[in-house]
Amino acid sequence: MSRRFAPFLQSLLLPLLLTLLCCGFAGAQAQAVGGQGHPWWQHAVFYEIYPRSFVDSNNDGVGDLNGISSKMNYLHDLGVDAIWITPCYPSPQVDFGYDVSDYRNIDPMYGSLSDFDHMVAAGKKHGVRIIMDFVPNHTSDQHPWFLDSKSSRTAPHRDWYIWRDGKGPGQPPNNWISIFGGSAWTLDPTTNQYYYHYFYAQQPDLNWRNPAVEKVMLDTTRWWYKRGVSGFRLDAVDTLFEDPELHDDPILKGTNAQGDPNIENRYNTNLPEVHDELQKLRKVADESQAVLIGETWTSNVAELDRYYGQGGNELQMPMDFMFTTVNKLSPPEFRRQIAAVESAHGWPVFVIGNHDIVRSYNRYGDGKNNDAIAKLMGAFYLTLRGTPIMYYGEEIGMENNDPTRKEDVKDPIGRTGWPQEKGRDGERTPMQWNSSANAGFSKTEPWLPVPASYKTHNVASELKDPDSVLNLYKKVLALRHTNEALVEGSYTALNQDDINVMSYLRSYKGKAVLVALNMSASPQKATFDLSAQGFSHAGWKTLIASAQASTKGNEVTLEPFGLLIAEVNP
Ligand code: NOJ
Repeated sequence: MSRRFAPFLQSLLLPLLLTLLCCGFAGAQAQAVGGQGHPWWQHAVFYEIYPRSFVDSNNDGVGDLNGISSKMNYLHDLGVDAIWITPCYPSPQVDFGYDVSDYRNIDPMYGSLSDFDHMVAAGKKHGVRIIMDFVPNHTSDQHPWFLDSKSSRTAPHRDWYIWRDGKGPGQPPNNWISIFGGSAWTLDPTTNQYYYHYFYAQQPDLNWRNPAVEKVMLDTTRWWYKRGVSGFRLDAVDTLFEDPELHDDPILKGTNAQGDPNIENRYNTNLPEVHDELQKLRKVADESQAVLIGETWTSNVAELDRYYGQGGNELQMPMDFMFTTVNKLSPPEFRRQIAAVESAHGWPVFVIGNHDIVRSYNRYGDGKNNDAIAKLMGAFYLTLRGTPIMYYGEEIGMENNDPTRKEDVKDPIGRTGWPQEKGRDGERTPMQWNSSANAGFSKTEPWLPVPASYKTHNVASELKDPDSVLNLYKKVLALRHTNEALVEGSYTALNQDDINVMSYLRSYKGKAVLVALNMSASPQKATFDLSAQGFSHAGWKTLIASAQASTKGNEVTLEPFGLLIAEVNP
């Protein structure tokens, strides 16, 4: 969650916060190690694409699926095994695709189903799987189900959504607040009842207690698996169910950026029924050896653990967002977060950015050493035990480009929350491919402006610079795919009292990789005694290092924000 988005979302999310195996997939990373009993997604590197902003193949200012297909080569060379594409279904685009009006089609702005098939085929050729975004909690208010539902109290789809009488004249059924501002209930004059929406009013919540809703949604996932998708990222899973008795939520102190009281979403998020439904979604996924990734904002490991399910029967990949809430370069805090997720009963999933949070380049950058810090962060989360999900552009050090005037804001919450909440446009700007006009994203003015830094931070220029953020990412990803200790190995935190150097050992079958990251702005030395882990300092071999990193015996010297990844042999 972004620093900017955090106060707003976190206050409302407070209750949350308090078989296709690798070798069987055509064209899979040829050089990759692994497949030793691990499912494919544990060895894969995932990459999130915001389709509006990746490549605009038809020059209308908005990215599209053919644009994505044209970059499979780039993704493969980068070291990406699977792409998660945020919603590209038909949608009025109030929430840029998270308001779906047809779950089984592609929005014409992004292409067609045949472009989708072409993209799956292009991905297969390059060893890149396709993960779609599934939005189970709500539809668009323009979805035919909702149009029917609102038409009369006896309409066939009436009970597909959550309709209630108000408490009294002008009073919604209870005090639940929309995460995007205002009451979570909107009165519809046709039938004089309120419908519930956890997000925008244009995103009415589906009624998952209705078996017809459950059936059509499960069938929809099956339909996409048959079409070639390798899994789904499940949007806002914690919000699927609400208390049928509509108890008021407890009010907390203060107000959020939208001016609403802070509230604990006790009765409208995280209900136990969510887990029953995840088990059903998982059963369908298992028919196709597909993977389910969860948008799982949790405040502690117990909550995260629950998403894996009993014996691993729910989400294979609930994202560890606790990691993104460490918004400073703090080895002790990162150690704590990693230890927490390591103690869960599932495979860790690390992210440092996405389309809802300020880019990692800005969150961690100090304004002076941002490129060095971007490399440090890449070397960090891509070498942890678990599956990383990158966010497009992170690999070239893309920065946030927040709107400076309210009238330029596209994300509705940026308009309603201005100036405290500027919305999420800043982290969704076009991918920077080269230094030509519009960063090579489109020949037309893009839907969001590219930041001035595209002149230096773009794929073409960085490919030529051996010291670029992009080349560091490529080196680390290549190593991750070939080094058994990084793919399979255990994680051991080292030098746990060190407040400046984050270090750990990944070891597997007598081989190990040491990672040492100077998270401070001053030079640091760190000494390692790996005898307890069965390793001596004699056999170190540097694999990847920053310009001034050096080793002498068991001592590592690192420049400010310097990094070292070294192989350690017994
Ligand atoms: C989470 C998505 O990541 C966000 O972009 C969206 O606005 C909400 N869910 C509603 O679908």
